[in-house]
Amino acid sequence: MKSAFHFFSVLVLVTCTQIAVAQYSILPKPGRITELNSADSFRISAQTAVLASHPSLQSSADFLNSYLQKQFSLARPKIKKGKQINTISLALGNASTVSGAYTLETGAREVKISGTDAAGVFYGIQTLIQLLPADSNTSLAIAPVQIEDAPRFQYRGMMLDVSRHFFSADFIKKYIDLLALHKMNRLHWHLTDDHGWRIEIKKYPQLTAVGAWRNGTIIGNYPGSGNTNQRYGGFYTQAEVKDIIQYAEKRHVTIVPEIEMPGHASAAIAAFPYLSCFPNEATHINKYPSDLTKVKGGKQVQETWGVHNDVYCAGNDSVFRMMEDVLTEVINLFPSSYIHIGGDECPKENWKKCPRCQQRIKDLKLKDEHELQSYFVQRIEKFINSKGRILIGWDEILEGGLAPNAVVMSWRGEAGGIEAAKQRHDVIMTPNSYVYFDYFQGKAALEPMAIGGYLTLQKVYSYEPIPSVLTAEEAKHIKGVQANVWTEYIASSDKVEYMSLPRMAAIAEIAWTSQPKDWSDFTRRLETQHNRYAFWNYTAAQSAYNVKQSIQIDSDAGRATVSFSTESFEPEIHFTLDGSEPSAKSTLYKKAFDVRRSVTVKAASFRNGKQVGKTTIQQIIL
Ligand code: ACM
Ligand code: ZN
Repeated sequence: MKSAFHFFSVLVLVTCTQIAVAQYSILPKPGRITELNSADSFRISAQTAVLASHPSLQSSADFLNSYLQKQFSLARPKIKKGKQINTISLALGNASTVSGAYTLETGAREVKISGTDAAGVFYGIQTLIQLLPADSNTSLAIAPVQIEDAPRFQYRGMMLDVSRHFFSADFIKKYIDLLALHKMNRLHWHLTDDHGWRIEIKKYPQLTAVGAWRNGTIIGNYPGSGNTNQRYGGFYTQAEVKDIIQYAEKRHVTIVPEIEMPGHASAAIAAFPYLSCFPNEATHINKYPSDLTKVKGGKQVQETWGVHNDVYCAGNDSVFRMMEDVLTEVINLFPSSYIHIGGDECPKENWKKCPRCQQRIKDLKLKDEHELQSYFVQRIEKFINSKGRILIGWDEILEGGLAPNAVVMSWRGEAGGIEAAKQRHDVIMTPNSYVYFDYFQGKAALEPMAIGGYLTLQKVYSYEPIPSVLTAEEAKHIKGVQANVWTEYIASSDKVEYMSLPRMAAIAEIAWTSQPKDWSDFTRRLETQHNRYAFWNYTAAQSAYNVKQSIQIDSDAGRATVSFSTESFEPEIHFTLDGSEPSAKSTLYKKAFDVRRSVTVKAASFRNGKQVGKTTIQQIIL
């Protein structure tokens, strides 16, 4: 037996080849792909059985069956044992000890996916899905291959802000699917902010009855040009929240809930004015409050964007009692070990004027309002720790002293993350300059309204989460990365998808793969990923296909040199010089060229004869 096994493995070794893996477009990139040199493909049909060898793998088997049914209309009858033509076997146990690692091996009669744990098996299925076509009309044949893969970081997150704009429970599920298809495993759910409280709290129904609704929203970019004067809002009931958490669990996505404090609190204060240092002061809405708010006055849910001075009073114990009640319900709902308490952008103006806040500073011999914020966060941390959970907050929680067990989410660049790691605290990197997906992803003139910034796909891809200034020991505290989708200027679910895609592919690659960066190979695989986005019914931006025109003018020579580039793989660029719209029949760009007269250059990328992205225009005056 032993020698037969040995003979078999030698045979496999000599027939393996690592070449010709270029046709694979798995994203994020796996650790190792080995093509097995055999002619026999595995064909998925209605007679393919998906067998889970352990109850914890059944939800992964169900996921694959639903995928095959939804995308390929493959009916999935219960196949009687022994009647199947071939089998996809899911099993626990793997050479790796890393959570989420898996091996996938396909042969003519069997596809074997073995994971270190159930998450690993689920990611093996995601890879299997990416071995299938993004087209329901082709046959489902998989050439023999072995893939070994493991995630680089254990925290691979996306944050979605549902306060500034509200998105349906169905869309949250669709977004969770999108994370899972990218092997992302954390949805940071930004549930409360100035513009709406979005989670039902049984003990305080007013939080949503009042706090989930605003009287209007400013129109256009801050400070805006007016107010919609339309009541806007919504919230998730606890029943919906439970359903979403279960849905996410089946996809190995943990939802990290965020309940913001002590700043970004206008919605809760509108419901319970006593939470403010100054309960009788009307909410200040800069420039364009709604007509209703102008008439009513008093505390109102915010209608304009930005950072607002009306925050929770840190000198009032009733505030802490309520926050603890809220967190108790949140902790009972969400199994996440991390509980996010915000902590960012808390102006200290009210605390400086508030007798109760000043009394607290005096009683506790605090140095200033930053230490008062630290007191606030540390008091909340004690409570969260007492429930067996870990407090996570934005990097402002470093100011005035970090709570003893807190995890820091570094957003104002990497400095907060570096500082926290040096203090031996765990860190999630989410620097605005690299991973704020509310920023423009192309030239502003060619993009829908956004908050500002300029964050191209290539810039996201260039991000390295472990800062080089950290020692190896400190670097162990960088637990992962996250991209953030703030939604001040994202009012529809289609636009959430547009702003997320394809940049989510880049953050997923950074979070998952330990392979060296290879921009060209990433963009090559992204071509297929774009087909998948369409196949899966997601809206992806095509901004990376927009042609960047570089023009160098030599006035003395009366000549301009024009060259084109994109952030896409081997782009097919067509252009015109006569002001007409470029089509697939216009001149094909091959290399830089000179013009010797004034012209209008119009250029665009094409794929399969169709324009992708926008036309870009440059006037050359000679
Ligand atoms: C943040 O962007 N204020 C965390
Ligand atoms: Zn106060």
